[in-house]
Amino acid sequence: MRVGVPKEIKVLENRVGLTPESVREVVHHGHAVVVEHDAGQGIGMRDDDYARAGARVVASAREVFDAADMIVKVKEPQAAERAMLRRGQVLFTYLHLAPDPEQAKDLVASGAVCIAYETVTSASGGLPLLAPMSEVAGRMAVQAGAYYLERAHGGKGILLGGVPGVDPAKVVVLGGGVVGTHAVHIALGMGAEVWVLDRSVDVLRRLWTQFGRPLNTVFSTRDAVERHVTNADLVIGGVLIPGASAPKLVSAALIRQMKPGSVVVDVAIDQGGCFETSRPTTHADPTYVVDGVVHYCVANMPGGVPRTSTFALNNATLPFVLALADKGWARALADDAHLRNGLNVAFGDVTCAPVAEALGYPYVPAETVRG
Ligand SMILES: NC(=O)c1ccc[n+]([C@@H]2O[C@H](COP(=O)([O-])OP(=O)(O)OC[C@H]3O[C@@H](n4cnc5c(N)ncnc54)[C@H](O)[C@@H]3O)[C@@H](O)[C@H]2O)c1
Repeated sequence: MRVGVPKEIKVLENRVGLTPESVREVVHHGHAVVVEHDAGQGIGMRDDDYARAGARVVASAREVFDAADMIVKVKEPQAAERAMLRRGQVLFTYLHLAPDPEQAKDLVASGAVCIAYETVTSASGGLPLLAPMSEVAGRMAVQAGAYYLERAHGGKGILLGGVPGVDPAKVVVLGGGVVGTHAVHIALGMGAEVWVLDRSVDVLRRLWTQFGRPLNTVFSTRDAVERHVTNADLVIGGVLIPGASAPKLVSAALIRQMKPGSVVVDVAIDQGGCFETSRPTTHADPTYVVDGVVHYCVANMPGGVPRTSTFALNNATLPFVLALADKGWARALADDAHLRNGLNVAFGDVTCAPVAEALGYPYVPAETVRG
């Protein structure tokens, strides 16, 4: 198979579909890889690195799309990219189609076989191609929180880990899933006093077993949230109800009760946020202040560390890229129900039930798609 990697063109997107390391694996499996000039610039990888891995580097996205049987990207294709897709060509990337009727219309019209990272599932019931980005965001949340607790950045002027003889900061993590677990790991590592709240006792049990006594686990109720948020120095929001908007666990009134210079990091902002006072921000201007409380609500936190994020994403996507290249899309999807769950659009049909429902298309089960 010929695999194509164009340079990402969405504003401020610096990640890339395949690292040179992944390219080498794909080439080793007997496939050809075509990479656009400067595709790896945002992660510090040069054209030479790709050429050494066995890729052919070409000057334009047009050449990549024309040459490739399968396009591997990161972000949903932009209008100019969608125009270059053709019938039967495989597109493997994040799509997030439900809120994007324009993109859905173009993908349906293209006849391409569009597999979305975010709907690929795993045997444990998780979303294995979303999880790496939650790992990055959870870890970054503590780093960002520590930075904004510094006086010069609007915070109380508190060092997360304290020093001998001086208390550490109190960090409260709402939600103990992937984001929460990684936030807890870093916050404990930095020496903070860490509390995690979740409404699942199984989640709390797992965290308790994983981190032991230094971590305080709390069953999440309104009372518990109020008790812990009012005297926290840093609150990290990482709750998720799959398919729904994030629950507003922290009201504006509760934010008013926090001490000035406290920091909230709303990782769940991509699902609407779990603080009533949250609104999405960008890496260019990440924070604002409400009632003295610094709010960090960057909707694409992993974009701030594109190199780490690209490697993390490739670790998760590479096995699927190899399966699709080795077997072709039809057999790869037939053999693996979890990869099949990733199929969103194929040959003009919408094959993902929630996307079909959200956008008013007839739903065609992925099992029935024929090339
Ligand atoms: N801003 C970003 O750049 C970015 C990056 C990655 C992920 N995210 C978002 O972060 C959020 C969390 O992702 P995740 O992968 O950790 O999800 P997850 O499903 O692994 O974890 C969510 C946790 O929230 C808990 N929860 C749900 N309702 C709760 C409540 N009322 N009180 C306490 N806990 C509750 C669940 O029990 C679960 O343990 C998602 O909205 C995700 O999209 C944002």
